[in-house]
Amino acid sequence: MPTLNFKGKTFVQNHHLAVKYHQLVPVKELSLTDKVSLHDNLIIQGDNLKALKALLPTYAGKVKCIYIDPPYNTGNEGWAYNDNVNSPMMQEWLAATLKGDKVDKEDLTRHDKWLCMMMPRLKLLHELLSEDGAIFISIDDIEQHYLRVLLDEIFGEGNFIANIMWQKRTSPDSRVVLGAGHEFVISYSKNYPLFYETLKKLELSEEQREQFKNPDNDPLGPWVSSDFTAQGYRPNQMYEINSPKGKKYFPPEGKCWKNVESAYKKLVKEGRIWFGNDGMGMPRRKTYLNEREGSVPWTWWTNKEAGHNQEAKKEIIEIFESITAFDTPKPTSLIKRILQIATERDSVILDSFAGSGTTAQAVLELNKDDGGNRKFILVEMEDYANTITAERGRRVIKGVPGAKNENLREGLGGTFSYFKLGEAIEMENLLRGENLPTYDEFARYLFYTATGEEFNENAINQETGFIGESSNHEVYLFYKPDLEWLKQNALTLNMVNELPPLKGKRRLIFAPVKYVDDETCRYFNIDFCQLPYEIYRIKQ
Ligand SMILES: C[S@@+](CC[C@H](N)C(=O)[O-])C[C@H]1O[C@@H](n2cnc3c(N)ncnc32)[C@H](O)[C@@H]1O
Repeated sequence: MPTLNFKGKTFVQNHHLAVKYHQLVPVKELSLTDKVSLHDNLIIQGDNLKALKALLPTYAGKVKCIYIDPPYNTGNEGWAYNDNVNSPMMQEWLAATLKGDKVDKEDLTRHDKWLCMMMPRLKLLHELLSEDGAIFISIDDIEQHYLRVLLDEIFGEGNFIANIMWQKRTSPDSRVVLGAGHEFVISYSKNYPLFYETLKKLELSEEQREQFKNPDNDPLGPWVSSDFTAQGYRPNQMYEINSPKGKKYFPPEGKCWKNVESAYKKLVKEGRIWFGNDGMGMPRRKTYLNEREGSVPWTWWTNKEAGHNQEAKKEIIEIFESITAFDTPKPTSLIKRILQIATERDSVILDSFAGSGTTAQAVLELNKDDGGNRKFILVEMEDYANTITAERGRRVIKGVPGAKNENLREGLGGTFSYFKLGEAIEMENLLRGENLPTYDEFARYLFYTATGEEFNENAINQETGFIGESSNHEVYLFYKPDLEWLKQNALTLNMVNELPPLKGKRRLIFAPVKYVDDETCRYFNIDFCQLPYEIYRIKQ
């Protein structure tokens, strides 16, 4: 398979592995809940490279649908490339070409920088997706072709789902000849056959529903009719049909009826064949509204169905009563359409370039429409993560007084927990006693790095030191974010004797030091890891 080569690629290919784990610090006063938790809807302020890494312990393999709308690299949107990639050659290149850290139009290596920015993020997003999950990425012509090849490399060519054309405008831009009326939404799955099994049809639009009528008061309700002929010649589908008013029909040249005669007779008996108002027409087959499962999605998404840029701006004005609140929002209906086809009612949805928080609104609206319990995780690095991203969440949850839509006026309901990125969890800091992580954050990090499995914060019991159970281990952590305490405390025989009864797995115990010998450890089924040196992945 051809792969894409770009400047810096060798240095960023594995950068996602080198990114340090950062703490996720709850900010209660900005949250819209009494119980701030990583299992709630989440809004995280910080660079998404660090935030995605910090989400791995709780959400690796758990996200059903990712929607992202990254900077398009237009040269004037002011996106910055400032990932701290540890390579002198990379630093030299960036120092020579960046103005500040912004990537502008004159920069001849701006595509390379964009790809350097995207690659490690896409790799982390891939890790976060569930096996039946999929990613949908808004993009335009500037990077679309490069992104496709990069996605082939990261997700695998066979996991390509579709490149959707979204009609973003309602009329041509008169200032530009051959201006773009559409953008793309590129989608890839983690495992195509598994994703395809879960792919949903779209609910019928109001316009589609209105086409169903009931001129004959059919007890099965409104219906539409379709041609009862099929292409080709099949001998047992060539028979004479008599209309109720006695007009005889035979399939036209080159065609046959859709069903064999016995099936046709059954349909007539059930009242499912229509011969027109006068009972003399060519037979047509009825399809009932209440039997339609929805419409099959395809790759052409018109602005009528999936909204357009002006609509997105109007939504911002409706919610914030100001046109300047956010410049480049997407319409809620675009993201809602993605969620309709690619999520279950209890799915986790992630948007790591959250902007004005349209994804949160789409998730909450869809939950309100179908009684679902989907959860969103949003990441936004700018200061407006609180004043715009989260604020939109607060307003749509509580109700937008001037909104046209009744649900939005009443409020969509729900909660969210707000987190910011904290310090990196680093060995040197632990040794120096600087920026020591909280017990819960350290537990989350250790559990995941040691076992490679999902961490559940609800399992923590600080009194016994228990932090969770993996396939092979019951895991314990004896720790306080206090250097003096760490210097003076150790795993003792008393503590070992007081451990909760063994459930049959080995015990993995993290503590600053142990005052029990190896024989005792073997007897009590203990694998001991000394903090901070032995933070390693046991994963068996
Ligand atoms: C095009 S906007 C997304 C708009 C969004 N879809 C909406 O409907 O409002 C891209 C957003 O990604 C944010 N962003 C860019 N780089 C980021 C990064 N490294 N980490 C987190 N957010 C980032 C920008 O600040 C901007 O708000």
